[in-house]
Amino acid sequence: MTEHISPDIDPHRLARTLSGFNLIDGELVGARSGRTFPVVNPATGNEIGTAPFSEAADVDAAVSAAQRAQRAWAGMAARKRGALVAECARLLGAHVEELGRLVALETGKALRTESRVEASVVADALQFYGGLGSELKGESVPFSPDMLTVTTREPIGVVGVIIPWNAPMMLMALKISPALVAGNCVVVKSAEESPLAVLRVCQLLNQVLPRGVLNIVAGYGPECGAPLVQHPAVGKITFTGSVETGRIVARAAGEKLIPVTLELGGKSPMIVMGDADLDRAVAGAVAGMRFTRQGQSCTAASRIFVHESLHDAFVTALKAKVDAMKMGDPLDEATDIGTVISQAQLDKVKGYIESGRATLGAAAVECSALPQGASLRGGLFVRPVLFTGLGNSHRLAREEIFGPVTCIIKFSSYEEVLAMANDSAYGLAATIWTRDLKTALDAARRLEAGFVQVNQNIVVQPGLSYGGVKQSGLGREASLEAMLEHFTHKKTLIFNMQ
Ligand code: NAI
Ligand code: MG
Repeated sequence: MTEHISPDIDPHRLARTLSGFNLIDGELVGARSGRTFPVVNPATGNEIGTAPFSEAADVDAAVSAAQRAQRAWAGMAARKRGALVAECARLLGAHVEELGRLVALETGKALRTESRVEASVVADALQFYGGLGSELKGESVPFSPDMLTVTTREPIGVVGVIIPWNAPMMLMALKISPALVAGNCVVVKSAEESPLAVLRVCQLLNQVLPRGVLNIVAGYGPECGAPLVQHPAVGKITFTGSVETGRIVARAAGEKLIPVTLELGGKSPMIVMGDADLDRAVAGAVAGMRFTRQGQSCTAASRIFVHESLHDAFVTALKAKVDAMKMGDPLDEATDIGTVISQAQLDKVKGYIESGRATLGAAAVECSALPQGASLRGGLFVRPVLFTGLGNSHRLAREEIFGPVTCIIKFSSYEEVLAMANDSAYGLAATIWTRDLKTALDAARRLEAGFVQVNQNIVVQPGLSYGGVKQSGLGREASLEAMLEHFTHKKTLIFNMQ
């Protein structure tokens, strides 16, 4: 691997440089078949580069490289592995700008509000886990006085990482960092919509990591993701994406009897009680709904329950806030909101908006103007929509839209709103906004979600366990426990000294 790669802040040039490559065994290589698929800038519809159309043979090459590297990697002192991962974080520090620009170009996420932020979080995740090498501890067990009985934390071996496109670098970092520090080698399968920025991250990390420890292949689900899950040498799959694909992945993993971690979708409730601080709650709705990312977030506050006493004021204030956000070219520093990822997502989101509009009694409040300018005419922009008058049983309040669409639902009593909040197939995140401690505590305990916040709405943070209940997934990420529970197995050793 080339040493000391310099940052390239021209994302178009960088996209071309990275075009057509997987990274296997420390080398940039094309697909065995030579096939590629286009990578498109969703703000213009223009092709910015290509990615290899990887299939089983490419996956096998990547898994074999990981397998070859794994013994030596696992044999390294845990703190040394951690130190290398922390060095990766330092190295990425110099590349935040280029990575932010590249991910903005391929995903349409605004640079200032989203993409640059994502790029800096990647280093944060690596830094956090880099410090945890010495926490891979076992126990001593008082089994018998004549024997020394201990447990150790052993790496699983080769871990398959399947990621989506909404925050590709960050979601990858939260998976590969604990996997690597725990002594596993990794094969990442990138999302077909966003293969370039994650490839760049892996290329940069390969300057520090031994060859074969971290590999990445680009491709589609059935042709590339499925062979990774099914590969006999892959001992664990960690996946973020849709419930539907999560089930397919879990089924295939079940057939092999290997563990899976699933971070799936959400329909996260935000409850605004009558005594809430209106301004803070409105700001929390803007952040929670991820309007800056066109709502393409698994924790999006896509069901906002507002007490009847605040409802109308809340809708007015939220509309004003979202209206003030500028939709435009993702690479323009003035832009708050970029595009959705793909035509398929755009069609899906528009379908939901039409279905909401067609519902008797519903009103759609449209916010933020579409950008002007000929160059963005082919861009996948969607105006954020606040729906009022839709019930919690409407499909817009039940299904994950993954777009800038939220349902604001009026309520009158606490028990009623708690029942509605929990009446969902999902259980990822929830927030409640109130000044009353007793209500806050009661709701925090009773809300069926993996991540509950009171009077704030922050996103996943290194150090805090993150993950869902119900159909939002299996397992936790981002914390020490995530590394111990999901990327190691416990081994019991008995030394009989008789
Ligand atoms: P998806 O779940 O199909 O894709 C996620 C990843 O899984 C991609 O890398 C994809 O190539 C891979 N994949 C697809 N089929 C596979 C298979 N058979 N075996 C192994 N890997 C496979 O999500 P998609 O189609 O991009 O988006 C559809 C919906 O999923 C969105 O509208 C949204 O509701 C939800 N979603 C949720 C995300 C989250 O963060 N929880 C992220 C992305 C999408
Ligand atoms: Mg899909």
